[in-house]
Amino acid sequence: MKPLNPREIVSELDRFVVGQDKAKRAVAIALRNRWRRQQVPEELRDEIAPKNIIMIGPTGVGKTEIARRLAKLAQSPFLKIEASKFTEVGYVGRDVESMIRDLTELAVKQVKDEESEQVQAKSYEIAEERILDLLLPPKPKQVQPLGRSDLQHVQQGHLSEQQASDEQISTRDKLRTMLRQGKMDEREVELEITQQNVPVVEIFSASGLEEMDVNLKDMFGNMFPKKTKKRKVKIPEAREIIAQEEAQKLIDMEKVTKMAVLRVEQSGIIFLDELDKVATRDQGHGPDVSREGVQRDLLPIVEGSTVTTKYGMVKTDHILFIASGAFYVSKPSDLIPELQGRFPIRVELSSLGKEDFVRILTEPQNALIKQYIALMDTEGVKLVFREEAIEKIAETATTVNEKTENIGARRLHTIMEKLLEEISFAASEMTEKTVSIDAAYVSGRLEDLILDEDLSRYIL
Ligand SMILES: Nc1ncnc2c1ncn2[C@@H]1O[C@H](COP(=O)(O)OP(=O)(O)OP(=O)(O)O)[C@@H](O)[C@H]1O
Ligand SMILES: [Mg+2]
Repeated sequence: MKPLNPREIVSELDRFVVGQDKAKRAVAIALRNRWRRQQVPEELRDEIAPKNIIMIGPTGVGKTEIARRLAKLAQSPFLKIEASKFTEVGYVGRDVESMIRDLTELAVKQVKDEESEQVQAKSYEIAEERILDLLLPPKPKQVQPLGRSDLQHVQQGHLSEQQASDEQISTRDKLRTMLRQGKMDEREVELEITQQNVPVVEIFSASGLEEMDVNLKDMFGNMFPKKTKKRKVKIPEAREIIAQEEAQKLIDMEKVTKMAVLRVEQSGIIFLDELDKVATRDQGHGPDVSREGVQRDLLPIVEGSTVTTKYGMVKTDHILFIASGAFYVSKPSDLIPELQGRFPIRVELSSLGKEDFVRILTEPQNALIKQYIALMDTEGVKLVFREEAIEKIAETATTVNEKTENIGARRLHTIMEKLLEEISFAASEMTEKTVSIDAAYVSGRLEDLILDEDLSRYIL
């Protein structure tokens, strides 16, 4: 696939995220820079560090959404993780290195899926042959009696060996044709299905133990013998089962692992959410010590170090980190200086107002209004939203955000759900097949809630 240039990346993001142009530009540049780095002569390539980004903005304005969409575009291994999940070495919680292990795990899966696609055609071919074998077992070679009886054999009008095998080939071909035409789809065959019985062992996922937990699983996996079980299945299902089994055999796991590790090192992206939660204002007391500890633990990974995973060593030097946080109480300047230096790009996302909400409701490919229309369509009910109704919904969202808590575009979800509650409930039994949502309908459903602040705190 041709790598997208920054302008193209932004316009792809525009399809899902409204506004927030500065943030989109920043991530687009960061993504393009990874491709640029790959083109630079090798001596210099290793010197070019990724320009990590901090996205700063209130809740529900599209930070995570931008990162998610970006990862899809980049087709890079992408991991989203909350910084607050980590605790300093020695405390209970996840150890920081585990994010690299998780990312590698993801990459292995990604590469493996791609490889399976590559061998798919081949594995289905093999599956077809194996099903034919099941339907028409190859005749065991007959031990020919000697001498006289041999003569008898021919005399009695038996087929010669040559003829017999010719006949079998032609039967096989006929069967194959029928198989391909789907004429045998109702036939059942008996398959040996491998099941791996791994007992469930619960292991506390405390720091340090995690890697062990992974290895234990592998160990147990090999300790308990694979059980096979005979099962009768219809031919289409058998084809799927066999093809999957064969695909596993065709994939070179060593190559997959190598490619995956390379991909993590060269193009992995880690989205570090809630970075503000580990920033501290005044250092040195109470729980803050541990937050700073987390930052210190994060530092080597962001700066570049080597992490041991079960797929081998992974270097983190060129992994792109995109951090995000509201930074209400703490500021990026409250992060330890070394970490600040590792996130040179700061972008602010603006909070969303009425106009943004109107666009968010209608424009993105996955816009909420489109979702509800599609959902009701499955019941044969046609939802029509009048323009004033959408204005009114956006206005309501803004008001409630101002009066209670500003949760950004997430407010639209709660409001839409409340607004359409009655229709959602009754849709399957409705005789009126077109429902028009106008401003009056919106007011009717939501007015009381907006006026009563306490009520809206609970319901919207
Ligand atoms: N600018 C936007 N355009 C379209 N949809 C948006 C936008 N902002 C938020 N949304 C929608 O609102 C929801 C929450 O957004 P998102 O997860 O990106 O919030 P966030 O900025 O990461 O917030 P938090 O700081 O709480 O993690 C998502 O369903 C997303 O699709
Ligand atoms: Mg988020």
